[in-house]
Amino acid sequence: MENMRGSKVISCELCPVLVESRSRIVNGDGKMDAEILFVGEGPGREEDISGKPFRGRSGTVLDKSLRENGILRENVRITNCVRCRPPNNRNPSKRELSNCKNHLDTEIALINPRLIVALGRVPSEHLLGRKVIVTKEAGKIEVKNIAGLDRKVLICIHPAATLYNPNQKIIFESAISKAANWIAPEGQKNKNSSNRGSA
Ligand code: URA
Repeated sequence: MENMRGSKVISCELCPVLVESRSRIVNGDGKMDAEILFVGEGPGREEDISGKPFRGRSGTVLDKSLRENGILRENVRITNCVRCRPPNNRNPSKRELSNCKNHLDTEIALINPRLIVALGRVPSEHLLGRKVIVTKEAGKIEVKNIAGLDRKVLICIHPAATLYNPNQKIIFESAISKAANWIAPEGQKNKNSSNRGSA
């Protein structure tokens, strides 16, 4: 049985292996009216401990890049494709992704962001429903019907991939700086007004 309250999953037992491996459910974090929603793969160790997405090394990379682009973490929304830590940080299975899709769609519908940033291959393929080679396609914005509306999805490298690969760091930073253009300056915060960013 599962149970959501707003964007938060309060209880869920749909994935028996993840129920075993998790300490807690890691829900999305950040502003409910955020203009940008970042979507990662799933919680790792630090996230499983803290209950917040992107708290470990990947989170440090993401936070730094956001700061360099003048964005505070608390002004965006960050979530994951699955909300429970897979054992040994393996990728979530197709079944686990599909079990958690309803939660992600509900969050996307509630936040209604101007831009969704898919952090890495797993979220890019999950959201776009096709194979994605992130190193080739990072920075591309694709429109996809998600949770009943056409949404703009920006493909991005996963922050962890930047840790040992300077080329991927450059591609990651360029995609984040593209995402930053979708945040309206203070005083022009009508999400329904025409977008500053361009595809
Ligand atoms: N932390 C998250 O919350 N998601 C990831 O994809 C990686 C680390």
